[in-house]
Amino acid sequence: QKIALVTGGYSGESVISYKSAKTIYTHLDKNLYDVYVIDINPEGWFYLEDDHRAGTIDKNDFSLRLHGETIRFDGVFIGMHGTPGEDGRLQGYFDMLGLPYTSCNAATSALTFNKRYTVAVAAMAGIAVAPSVHLFAHTAYDVATILQQLQLPVFVKPNNGGSSIGMSKVSKGEELAAAIEKAFAEDNQVLVEQMIQGREFTVGVFKTEGQIQVLPITEVIAQNEFFDYEAKYHGASTEITPALIGEEWKANIEAAAKNIYAVCNCSGVVRIDFIYDEVAAKPYMLEINTVPGQSEASIIPQQVRAKGWTLQDFYSRLVAEALA
Ligand code: DAL
Ligand code: MG
Repeated sequence: QKIALVTGGYSGESVISYKSAKTIYTHLDKNLYDVYVIDINPEGWFYLEDDHRAGTIDKNDFSLRLHGETIRFDGVFIGMHGTPGEDGRLQGYFDMLGLPYTSCNAATSALTFNKRYTVAVAAMAGIAVAPSVHLFAHTAYDVATILQQLQLPVFVKPNNGGSSIGMSKVSKGEELAAAIEKAFAEDNQVLVEQMIQGREFTVGVFKTEGQIQVLPITEVIAQNEFFDYEAKYHGASTEITPALIGEEWKANIEAAAKNIYAVCNCSGVVRIDFIYDEVAAKPYMLEINTVPGQSEASIIPQQVRAKGWTLQDFYSRLVAEALA
């Protein structure tokens, strides 16, 4: 079977996408799949051979023209974070073409890429979420009102984005306006979210043979103020997989994760982030990452290995599920 591994993208996360695609390419089973790395970036859609542009994609049908031949794919492995690979745009395009892919469908991708809408749906499903205020660039906001609605500290995030780009932790009221403007530089929607005190966990959830399963849970201990870009990609964090927690916490996190996966109608592997509030004795959902990082040091590969599986087996399962 011919698999297009799409990577790159149009956002600041494209650098991470190339790292994820590299791991996925390395571990996809070449006895089962012919893998073609397709780089989708603002300059065009290219087939990459040994990191150089060796062919172009016909956007009419996503076929590849290569050495005078036309190559058609049986399926797509999404190795792209941010827009357009994680927010439903490519998913909608592949749906139009009838090409199966490894991620959540277009509607779920679009929903979960929006952090505010994700917490609204999770709350509807009975999952605890932090109080927050959702701002739009075209609507005036008042810092004093936000400070009445939420307790400090708060996290200020571009509402549609990933990898903590444009995000700040604000502990003093006078710093809130600048943090909001910083987030608006990345997105035209901003989420101001009250910080939940507790330990941070993240867990991969996926479907195999039609069944929802969870990977071993990871505890994230950031050395910086929070799990920011540096902590994520420059090693300024400690990640413990499987997390050293009791059965009750494990069961609560797993149940919440599976519930969210089902309610949002997810597909493929997603990673759901939580803060466990010890006083309230329950996990609070922060967000869903529908195309979680897959660089060699990323959390999902750690969790797969902790489960005792190889990445090759795991990726084969994801492709088999997508093509089923
Ligand atoms: N957005 C990054 C890639 C992640 O969730 O892993
Ligand atoms: Mg994220």
